[in-house]
Amino acid sequence: MVKKIILDCDPGHDDAIAMLLAHGNPNIELLAVTTVVGNQTLEKVTRNALAVARIANITGVPFAAGSARPLIRQVEIAPDIHGDSGLDGPVLPEPAFEVDSRHAVDLIIETIMSHPPKTVTIVPTAGLTNIALAARLEPRIVERVKEVVLMGGGYHVGNWSAVAEFNIKIDPEAAHIVFNEKWPLTMVGLDLTHQALATPDVVEKIRAVGTNPAKFVLELLEFFGTMYKSAQGFDYPPVHDPCAVAYVIDPSVMTTQKVPVDIELTGTLTLGMTVADFRSPPPADCHTQVAVKLDHQRFWDLVVDALERIGEVKI
Ligand code: BDR
Ligand code: CA
Repeated sequence: MVKKIILDCDPGHDDAIAMLLAHGNPNIELLAVTTVVGNQTLEKVTRNALAVARIANITGVPFAAGSARPLIRQVEIAPDIHGDSGLDGPVLPEPAFEVDSRHAVDLIIETIMSHPPKTVTIVPTAGLTNIALAARLEPRIVERVKEVVLMGGGYHVGNWSAVAEFNIKIDPEAAHIVFNEKWPLTMVGLDLTHQALATPDVVEKIRAVGTNPAKFVLELLEFFGTMYKSAQGFDYPPVHDPCAVAYVIDPSVMTTQKVPVDIELTGTLTLGMTVADFRSPPPADCHTQVAVKLDHQRFWDLVVDALERIGEVKI
C-alpha cells in the first residue's frame, strides 16, 4: 500500500538521503517537503532542499519554508557536522523551482485536512518547531493524521549533550508538545540510527548504481563521514534521517518497543532528554514507541533500490 507522507526536514546530509529514499521508493507518495531551522539557517536548509529536488528530479511536490527559530530558545545550528552550507561536499545546482508561497505550518495543516482521516504520516527529521506549531494552530490534525514517525531523541544516548539528541535539544518545548499529543508516535532515535552506518560495502553498492544522484550521495557520505570522524569519533557515519522513512516504507526493517516517552524541560544536565519508561507493561493508553534494532542490510537495500529507481538525472 502506498503511504502518503509529509517530510519536515533541515537538509542536512542525512535529510537529503531521506528525501531521495522517499522520492525513489514506489510505496511512498511525497505530499509535501517542509523545512525548519536546524542543521543550518532556514534560508540555507530551504535552498538545500530545492537543490536536492533538482538533483533527483522531484517535481510536482510543494516545498515550503517554515520556522526560522525555535519556540523559545536561541537558534543552534550544526556546522561541525553539515558544514557552512548545511550540505557541504557536493557542488549544489541552482534550484529548478521556487518555494511554495505558504508557510510550512499552513502547508502541513492544509495537506492533512484535505486528505481523508488517517491517511497522512508526518515524518519529521529535524527540530519539531513546525510540527508543534501546526498541532497548536489546528488541533484537529492530531486526530486526523495516521501517525508521526520522527528521527530524534535516543533512550540511552545523546549527541548534542550527554543525554540529548540534536533535533530534540534545539527545540525541547516543541518536542514536548509533539511527544505529548495523543497521535501514534514512533521515535527513531540514536539508539537505532547509530546502527545505520554507511560502511564500505554500502558505499560500494551506491557507487555501483553509477548515476548522478548516486554520485551526489557518495559525495554527501564522504563529507559526512569525515565530519562524524572528527566531531564524534565514528569510523563510519550514522545516516539517521532515512531510517524514519524506511520505517514508514516497511516497519519490519526495524524492531520497536511500546514505551511512554516524555521530554525533559527543566534538568540542568538533562535538558532535551527523551525519557523513556521501560517498566513493563506499558500503560494501556501508551501512544509512543521507540525503534530498537535495525536490519542494516535491508535498510541499505531500500536506499540503493530507491537510487536505482530514480535513475539518471542530467543537470
Ligand atoms: C539529527 O541531527 C541532524 O544533524 C541530522 O540531520 C539528524 O536529523 C541527528 O542527531
Ligand atoms: Ca535532519
